[in-house]
Amino acid sequence: MSQPRPSPKSSRLPLYFVAGILALFTLVFAVAFVLLSETSEGTAATTLTPDTYMDIVTPLLANADAAHGAMLVEHYACVGCHRAGAEATAHIAPPFVGMAERAVERRSPLTREAYIYESILYPAAYHVEEYTPVMPQNYGRLISDQDLGDIMAFLLSAEAH
Ligand code: HEC
Repeated sequence: MSQPRPSPKSSRLPLYFVAGILALFTLVFAVAFVLLSETSEGTAATTLTPDTYMDIVTPLLANADAAHGAMLVEHYACVGCHRAGAEATAHIAPPFVGMAERAVERRSPLTREAYIYESILYPAAYHVEEYTPVMPQNYGRLISDQDLGDIMAFLLSAEAH
């Protein structure tokens, strides 16, 4: 005489329960993933031409205010890394002084405007030799388009420091 087997229905219940929980988790992760990808600012360009980024950069600069940009680089603490300090040995990031001239040749065929835009939004796209790549990668989410335009106008101006 064998023991009566537990009914298949009741033995499968915990299985359905676990499967249900797993399905729920998958759904939550899927929704979170979609929401997160929607808030990201896109990706850096891979094929570069003189037009790359210009469809975004030109409107950003259209009504930009360089004087306000000068305040914003303090506000966003860019100068913590980019301003040459009293210590000549402080060598964290390329100084903003002379940025506009250097940006012309940094990453051909990008225009200097496009290069500065890419440097702020996608620092990992291009690495300036001699510096440790420590620039934060999340400015695309932190800085509004208006502020970004103002900062770029300031960096492109002769007053950049
Ligand atoms: C934690 C330090 C740090 C902060 C803060 C920082 N950067 Fe940078 N930045 C760097 C470093 C290091 C490089 C160069 C290394 C590289 O190419 O990754 C760089 C490169 C750049 C370049 C290209 C410079 C060149 O000469 O080619 C620009 C433009 C720039 N940053 C703008 C900004 C702006 C605007 C902000 C603020 C919104 C900012 N950075 C905040 C560290 C920083």
